[in-house]
Amino acid sequence: MRLLHIAGARPNFPKLAPVHRAVCIAGWEQVIVHTGQHYDLAMSEQFFEQLGIPTPDENLEVGSASHAVQTARVMERLEPVLVDRRPDWVLVYGDVNSTVAAALAASKLGIRVAHVEAGLRSYDRAMPEEINRIVTDRLADLLLTPSRDASETLKREGEPDEEIAFVGNVMIDTLVHALPAARASGFRSQLGVGDGAVVVTLHRPSNVDDPVRLGRIAAGLRQLATTRPVVFPAHPRTRQRLAAAGIDLGEVLVLDPIGYFAMLDLVQSAFAVVTDSGGLQEETTALGIPCFTLRDNTERPVTVTEGTNVLVRDPSAVAGLVSELTQRKPQGRIPEGWDGHAAERIVQALAERDR
Ligand code: UD1
Repeated sequence: MRLLHIAGARPNFPKLAPVHRAVCIAGWEQVIVHTGQHYDLAMSEQFFEQLGIPTPDENLEVGSASHAVQTARVMERLEPVLVDRRPDWVLVYGDVNSTVAAALAASKLGIRVAHVEAGLRSYDRAMPEEINRIVTDRLADLLLTPSRDASETLKREGEPDEEIAFVGNVMIDTLVHALPAARASGFRSQLGVGDGAVVVTLHRPSNVDDPVRLGRIAAGLRQLATTRPVVFPAHPRTRQRLAAAGIDLGEVLVLDPIGYFAMLDLVQSAFAVVTDSGGLQEETTALGIPCFTLRDNTERPVTVTEGTNVLVRDPSAVAGLVSELTQRKPQGRIPEGWDGHAAERIVQALAERDR
């Protein structure tokens, strides 16, 4: 069995790590192709080092560009690599532009595609990731789902049962594996932040590209920071938007992007998380930390129905919601298959389809 993994952007890396490890144990051949969608040390290389992923065998160096250009560059540069290496399966992760581009290039060459994190839907096509999810799932030959509802969604959309495998959540494999190293990282003490901080991340165009909405979010965070420490590792895109709009964050501690261990150290000890990230909605549910997601919808409904996630449509409500937590800490339970063994089930699903 010969596998080719596609990794492109930051959220792909914690999904790839446990699958790569499980495939090593299975003794199959595997190569990693990094598309270069994310390229800063703190957005990419640092994750490979911390998560124990080997240096990619190929880097397509596509860099930042408009959606069409970025997607097209991945397809154009990946095609000869696929022709040359002829894997049995291409594994694509999540919902970034590199995911859909690789699924398109591989399926047109008749190479089977397995999609890790299939079946998630926000039903909001204003999100570029929603389009990436739908197209990737339509093309994939094996749909590896993180939750039962995702499998049901795919069945409703007409995907055949034999192409769907509920495997659980690989993000939680990485979380379980990395938690001791994260706790030992000493990041919080270096930062001078104890238990009970509010950790913030924001990078979605729907939150950061509109200066009026971004200004309202910032006002809420400023207010919160007068009551407890607020730590905000900011995505490069968000930094640019804050600077361009001249928005001040008051006492909020704004950091450059941080590594996986540092982030996990902050989150596992946080009072609450305020975010628009998909991964953090899942990680907070797994850790039982209250999460307020600044979005109208989520493609991860299990984090709301079973976990600790609450959708917040009005950014001015955030400070009040976090303050209320002293009275009413949300209780959640850990969804099925979020147990640290999803990657092993992925290997099993691939082995069952070996030919
Ligand atoms: C991408 C994904 C998003 C994911 C996010 C996590 C798509 C459509 N979006 O969004 O789903 O949640 O990654 O980070 O694939 N930049 C840098 N350094 C980098 C990478 C990007 O400075 O290493 C800056 C550039 O100005 C770039 C901007 O960030 O233009 C946006 O990067 P891009 O990869 O296009 O999208 P993200 O917002 O990161």
